[in-house]
Amino acid sequence: MGKGVGFGKVILFNEHFVVYGLPAIASAIGAKTTALVERRAGAGVEIIDERPETKGYKSEKAGQQKESLDLMLKYMNIDTMRNGHRVTLGGDLIAASGVGASAASCAAIARAFSDELGLNYSDDKVNEVAYEGEKGYHGTPSGIDNTAATYGGLIWYRREGSTQRMERMKLKKPVEIVMGNTGLIADTKSVVAAVKERREKEPEKYGLIFQEAEELVKDSRKQLEALNLKKVGENMNRNHTLLQQIGVSCPELDLLVDFARNNGALGAKLTGTGRGGYMVALTPTRILQERVARAIEKKGFQALRTTIGV
Ligand code: MEV
Repeated sequence: MGKGVGFGKVILFNEHFVVYGLPAIASAIGAKTTALVERRAGAGVEIIDERPETKGYKSEKAGQQKESLDLMLKYMNIDTMRNGHRVTLGGDLIAASGVGASAASCAAIARAFSDELGLNYSDDKVNEVAYEGEKGYHGTPSGIDNTAATYGGLIWYRREGSTQRMERMKLKKPVEIVMGNTGLIADTKSVVAAVKERREKEPEKYGLIFQEAEELVKDSRKQLEALNLKKVGENMNRNHTLLQQIGVSCPELDLLVDFARNNGALGAKLTGTGRGGYMVALTPTRILQERVARAIEKKGFQALRTTIGV
């Protein structure tokens, strides 16, 4: 039996902008997806999905999951028509929008097939396969999610043409965050496509927003590395405004963001695709983290307590 793992992630700055070649910052979070691959009688691949989920996520994504698996098998040159396999997904990462669930599962599956078939994949190869798999969910992925899911840690990421460029970032100490779940499932393919359409319609407006997003992420890298968290929080708030301006927030995300800020978070923004899924709040110290998480839970939403920069 082959085993593999992929990390969940949080995007701290510049989701969506990263699709157009701007830099972005992401971090792995503590939760992971695991995959087990084993031979089975008969042809084809059977998927058993035992991941915890936001209600409805797995059934809604079943078609894209199948498409993604087919893309990865083709890329890895594995013919399951002759040799049937079973893939079992598990782990503690909630299958939900905004936490890199699809990318974590792709990295885990690539690693599990490599382990089962003795393919000896390096992390770079796993990342390539996971990128192929992400096409099933994203259409035109920037590559940030599969990169975070494969390598873990805190990363500075930029896409240059077809090249995925990642630099590791180091923090002097881990920082507590809270991720709040709207419970809504987002479709990355259609949200990314809608941004593209709006950007083509209003090039001047989008040009200015993109310019600010680029300056903001560069400053945020410096502030994060200096652990100037007050400024990082302010930049996260500003990043959320830019994401609102390109039309990827929604009332539930705005509510959770306001709620986190009102309860003392240094900054808060949507994370990932938007239009549902998760938001992230910067809450250094366990006490602040707990206060913001409890406030979110009291309103009936799920809160994930985790850290960045581990
Ligand atoms: C989704 O987690 C992040 C997006 O920027 C899409 C991508 O980078 O492929 C919205």
